[in-house]
Amino acid sequence: MISRRKFLAATSLTGASIVAGNKSFSKVFEEKSITPVLNSPIVISTWDFGIAANAAAWEVLKNKGRALDAVEKGVHVPEADESNQSVGYGGLPDRDGRVTLDACIMDELGNCGSVAALEHILHPISVARLVMEKTPHVMLVGAGALQFAMEQGFKKENLLTPASEKAWKAWLKNARYQPEINIENRLFSPTKLPGNQYNHDTIGMLAIDAAGNMSGACTTSGMAYKMHGRVGDSPIIGAGLYVDNEVGGATSTGVGEEVIRNVGSFLVVELMRQGYPPEEACKEAVMRIIRKKPNTAKEIQVGFLALNKKGEYGAYAIQQGFSYAVCNEKDQKLLVKANSYS
Ligand code: GLY
Repeated sequence: MISRRKFLAATSLTGASIVAGNKSFSKVFEEKSITPVLNSPIVISTWDFGIAANAAAWEVLKNKGRALDAVEKGVHVPEADESNQSVGYGGLPDRDGRVTLDACIMDELGNCGSVAALEHILHPISVARLVMEKTPHVMLVGAGALQFAMEQGFKKENLLTPASEKAWKAWLKNARYQPEINIENRLFSPTKLPGNQYNHDTIGMLAIDAAGNMSGACTTSGMAYKMHGRVGDSPIIGAGLYVDNEVGGATSTGVGEEVIRNVGSFLVVELMRQGYPPEEACKEAVMRIIRKKPNTAKEIQVGFLALNKKGEYGAYAIQQGFSYAVCNEKDQKLLVKANSYS
């Protein structure tokens, strides 16, 4: 599998010189450009597990389906993947041993739905979609979100797999919580954690359909061993995900607290509105975090991924190691290594 993937050192997607304010970004694209398929369907998502998720989304997009359906179907894949310990079923639990899920979804009309701290439901993204479509609200949390899911016919399930329970019990011996850089990253990480314990990451997905409309989805089990009740950026519209059909969309991965503090995904979209190309918008959002708290550059990982209305995409992270998957009519299994501050 891995040998079939393409690893590209660059994320910028146009040879054109684009100017935002006084900034010229033409230099960024020299030597490091890959040809985008503009103005046609595309789906992008965070991390290497995005490749399988994109493939499911592509089935919808290639048949001229709606981007909203594509992102929902796409993120179902990691949500149901037992081996993925940071999203859905098989996710690492909180410090009390409970798997609590955060997810949100947003469509081309600016409609959005979200669930946070939801337990026992395999596909939180689908509950988030029903919050959007069937309630006057945007967000349901905890017991209320579970009650709503049950009313909508979702089945209550045990999401704590033996592997995640074992990892949690091992963690309990010291019960020390500290986010560790890039342990969310399986592919590019220089070190492997004992027991294969990935602390933290998220699938964020953005898609444009054949009608030119964009939607996004974001879903995670959040930080491993978090305090019970902790909610990250992933279900927060504007933090973990934002879509503006006139401009583009953005999503994030990494330590959600810093993303929330800076309303990261909304910031990335607003920067694209001002003319920033996707990677430069992501970079500026990362720099905003670092400028406010220089230590974050040593201590944590945050990555942003963005897609603009034309189909140009880019990403940027604090730390090396962030990757994202791209799927369009030219290539269905592209894995791109994001540029980073460190
Ligand atoms: N970015 C996911 C989280 O902080 O939970």
